[in-house]
Amino acid sequence: MALALAGCKGLERAPMSDGRRLYLAKCTSCHAEYEPAKFSPQVWVANVDKMEELKKVRLSPEERAQILQYLTGDPGGRPVAATGR
Ligand code: HEC
Repeated sequence: MALALAGCKGLERAPMSDGRRLYLAKCTSCHAEYEPAKFSPQVWVANVDKMEELKKVRLSPEERAQILQYLTGDPGGRPVAATGR
């Protein structure tokens, strides 16, 4: 992680979102971080499904929604996250 020490003035950068924080906490213990832009929203949903099913990643509905919101860039976090099941 190349987080420059956030000590500097100027808050040009938005604070790290909860979604990103959760994503890093829940999803990078087994592998490196995948860039959000790497997959389409639909594929991200499928990937998170897969991680939950195959890798026994435990996410509360809120955590799942926040992580997907971060990964898909969907401000509501809903349309894709709520499809299907
Ligand atoms: C318990 C370990 C573990 C955790 C925790 C985990 N993964 Fe994975 N993940 C894997 C492994 C192992 C692979 C390698 C591919 C496979 O086994 O399908 C993988 C692969 C992936 C891939 C690549 C899929 C592809 O088609 O290239 C993505 C994206 C991914 N994980 C996302 C996540 C997300 C998002 C989370 C958090 C919700 C997460 N992972 C948490 C073990 C984990």
